[in-house]
Amino acid sequence: MCGIVGYLGAKEAMPILLDGLKRLEYRGYDSAGMAVMGDNGMDIRRSVGKLKELETQLLTSPLRGSVGIGHTRWATHGRPTENNAHPHQVGHIAVVHNGIIENYLELKKQLMAEGHTFTSETDTEIISQLIYKYSSQGAAFAEAVRLALHQVRGSYAIVVINAREPRSIIGARKESPMILGLGNGENFLASDVPAILSHTRRMVFLEDNDLVIMTDAGVTIQDLAGNPLDRPVTNITWSPAMAEKAGYKHFMLKEIFEQPRALIDTFRHRVDPHQGEIILEEFHLTPEEVKRLQKITMVACGTSFHAALVGKFLLESLCRLPVDVDLGSEFRYRDPFVNPETLLISISQSGETADTLAGLREARSKGARSLAICNAVGSSIARESESVFYTHAGPEIGVASTKAFTTQLVSLYLIGLYLAKELGYRSAEQIRGDLQALFQLPTLLQEVLDGDQVIREIGQNYMKANNFLYLGRGIHYPIALEGALKLKEISYIHAEGYPAGEMKHGPIALIDEHMPVVVLATRSPVFEKMMSNVEEVIARRGRVIAVSEADNFTVREKVETTLPVPATSLELSPILLTLPLQLLAYHIADLRGTDVDQPRNLAKSVTVE
Ligand code: AGP
Repeated sequence: MCGIVGYLGAKEAMPILLDGLKRLEYRGYDSAGMAVMGDNGMDIRRSVGKLKELETQLLTSPLRGSVGIGHTRWATHGRPTENNAHPHQVGHIAVVHNGIIENYLELKKQLMAEGHTFTSETDTEIISQLIYKYSSQGAAFAEAVRLALHQVRGSYAIVVINAREPRSIIGARKESPMILGLGNGENFLASDVPAILSHTRRMVFLEDNDLVIMTDAGVTIQDLAGNPLDRPVTNITWSPAMAEKAGYKHFMLKEIFEQPRALIDTFRHRVDPHQGEIILEEFHLTPEEVKRLQKITMVACGTSFHAALVGKFLLESLCRLPVDVDLGSEFRYRDPFVNPETLLISISQSGETADTLAGLREARSKGARSLAICNAVGSSIARESESVFYTHAGPEIGVASTKAFTTQLVSLYLIGLYLAKELGYRSAEQIRGDLQALFQLPTLLQEVLDGDQVIREIGQNYMKANNFLYLGRGIHYPIALEGALKLKEISYIHAEGYPAGEMKHGPIALIDEHMPVVVLATRSPVFEKMMSNVEEVIARRGRVIAVSEADNFTVREKVETTLPVPATSLELSPILLTLPLQLLAYHIADLRGTDVDQPRNLAKSVTVE
């Protein structure tokens, strides 16, 4: 997610904007920039890399003026380059933007046909071009912004300055956060509280389709039709440290709660529910090459490896192709069998995991086609893959991967549907039905998140255990592995994930009254088998915690504790069932007082062997 700051007042804007951007650095970014209205008009500085690059530029070539906008960019469309950095200036207009404009390609074609020339690869430049167009046709500043926003589809939080109205700033938001800060003789706009908390605690949390006009006379808030709106002013009592986490105690908890939004941002611009189509904008195998595929091999590490295991179930079922899954650290050294009829899918949140990157290189050296599922635009694994499917989870700060994992799962589902249609196993009509279940998923996730405090109370009953077992069958077996990894890596409790059918081959010897056993027991083709495993555990006095439907009384009557989940399709159930396990791990770790965001011995991205 990008960071945005805007300032209009009597002080020099540059230091205020720079300080605000620094306080948003935790959000992750790959380039930065700012624009200020000076005595000689609008002046812009932009840089790739960290803010210190921009700061160095500003030291030698400062921006003077008391109206300005600043931006840190987390690339979604277009590589991290100076040209793609914000602000995007077109004539007398400059814009900074956080969000995704879904229809930017069609609007770009339309504007180019009208004679507009573009200088970047970004979706944001569309907004600058449209506002410039309407302003040049005589529309007043706010009207030009409204006309532009009526054209775009997608999410935005924008701040706009206009060289023809140097003492004005306009902000607007839809589905991306934006906050208005009210000062004395000065006002602020920002994508998040920390950016402006040192200047004011009086904030307005703007709502979707709000438009803010800031001038020296003050601030007005309107809807997109120009009608005045009245929004409450909140007095923020958070400390700066709390503000970075939006009031959550840890980044991990904040990121767990961001998952409904992250899923929507990942799938929404890639599906056409009317046509029953999946749109993979950076998938470069022709239909003939897809048909020639003989197998799919997936390579990843850690949580991403668990995503790949779920992907095996999805892709084999949807595409009727054999799917291998391997750990990067193993694949890279076993002289694997891959060839030009193999599609190598690498999965990586950071895009920099050394073992996964080495696996990708090994497969490409043998002629395999390559697709990366990655959360970091322009990262090594993304750059070295022929095709890429970016998750739009936003920066994941907590070492334990949460929203990256569930967006990887939804990415694998979409890729599976796309390939299934290409291979003739899925019709447009069937995909329309699949997409209906997908569109309901964010609401179902929120239902689980609403039970957060209950899960914390449950965590209190198990926080002193020394060992946990996690059991699942079929497509839920990888979720058992993931649940165990979440618990062990942040609470330091030993936890193992196991295919439930394997219990009788050894692990059942571990079961006693001290052993909490988490079971994934929702209705599925193997539910009866799963219940047999539950009975085996109970017969040995194991303490069963079941993830199951709220109305699944067959389970609830038998087990010690139930973590309820709503019903969904089998293919999407791994995404849903992960959430209570993330929350259980988080609360047990927090109750045990470990460093949840930075667990001992771990790094967010393992860029070495
Ligand atoms: C999982 O919570 C860990 N953070 C770790 O296993 C991680 O998934 C693994 O290191 C792979 O990282 P990547 O997705 O960035 O490649």
